[in-house]
Amino acid sequence: MLAGTEKNLEPALAAVVVPYLGTDLVSAKVPVEIQERNQHLEVSVTLGFPAAGYADQLAEEIATSIQHVTQVTKVDVKIHSKVASHSVQGTLSPVPGVKNIIAVASGKGGVGKSTVAVNLALALQAEGGRVGMLDADIYGPSQPRMLGVSGARPRSRDGKSFEPIEAHGLQMISIGSLVDEETPTVWRGPMVTQALTQLIFRTRWRDIDYLIVDMPPGTGDIQLTLSQRVPVSGVIIVTTPQDIALLDAQKGLEMFRKVNVEVLGIVENMSTFVCPDCGHVTPLFGEGGGERMAAERGVPLLGRVPLDIRLRRETDEGEPSVIRETSQDLAREFREIARYATGRLSLRPREYKGAFPKIVVEEKK
Ligand SMILES: Nc1ncnc2c1ncn2[C@@H]1O[C@H](COP(=O)(O)OP(=O)(O)O)[C@@H](O)[C@H]1O
Ligand SMILES: [Mg+2]
Repeated sequence: MLAGTEKNLEPALAAVVVPYLGTDLVSAKVPVEIQERNQHLEVSVTLGFPAAGYADQLAEEIATSIQHVTQVTKVDVKIHSKVASHSVQGTLSPVPGVKNIIAVASGKGGVGKSTVAVNLALALQAEGGRVGMLDADIYGPSQPRMLGVSGARPRSRDGKSFEPIEAHGLQMISIGSLVDEETPTVWRGPMVTQALTQLIFRTRWRDIDYLIVDMPPGTGDIQLTLSQRVPVSGVIIVTTPQDIALLDAQKGLEMFRKVNVEVLGIVENMSTFVCPDCGHVTPLFGEGGGERMAAERGVPLLGRVPLDIRLRRETDEGEPSVIRETSQDLAREFREIARYATGRLSLRPREYKGAFPKIVVEEKK
């Protein structure tokens, strides 16, 4: 990675640990370019995930570490992000216009999957990513409401494909934006999976780094079919600390593993209750469950989200906490989770199937 004088700086870079990659810059093979200009170093670092909320801290750590081993008076560090497309399960092909699909799943409903999904999507955007949201929770689509676009219908230019709906900067689409909310309840499994795969493939996504898919809860046929048909780069499992939710979450996790989808990690939602009056913290649904499950299953705990009235109120109002000036403490937690998830994804193998045009060699007769 480093040549000539740059080689001398390798130990300095190896001393900088990026928590979201779980290792240091050199071990994670993060591309670093160094240029020397009379006693002045210009360092350019390209992370494989968006990290606007972390860039300043990282730049400072790198500069300090380099100054420890060199005489240079000035080290100027610039942090860039470049998101690649990462491999999907089986022989599936990536969705046009989408680099990575991240599924957000849970074993059962009501654990806050949609709340986590929407705040995570907005957190990824705040970090600098181009993000989409696909609401695949066919029996309980809640993203139109949570993103404040209830009643909005996607436009179609050609009668075959949909233009995504714009919501707080995200490109979104939901089964709830196409049919009235009651209709899918009478659909049979195959209709549901067909409707959803069409929704994904027929939407004209524009240059998206991460498409967040709010999956239907449960581990039945629909979920299994989706986990086999949707080209997913990784899945995030949402659970509450309660044992029963944990058992369901483990079933969900194993289902994705069986079909070779990478589990990026677990988010423990409603982790603790923070009293709005006195600030006292109560572990309402038990303690340490997510952590135990993460350790047992060998997947990271990406973070914990507290039970906080603002999360409910603000998502209900169609303007989730992450984009509220007054809820930036919650936004910080979601942005941290977003960086852990995409940092881990950035270490995964690249996907090349969608990157090149199909080349057909024809023999001249
Ligand atoms: N961390 C949280 N703090 C407060 N309320 C929450 C939290 N997570 C979810 N909720 C609320 O709990 C209910 C269920 O959440 P939702 O995201 O719709 O769950 P799911 O998608 O898993 O069914 C919603 O009313 C939501 O506002
Ligand atoms: Mg939901």
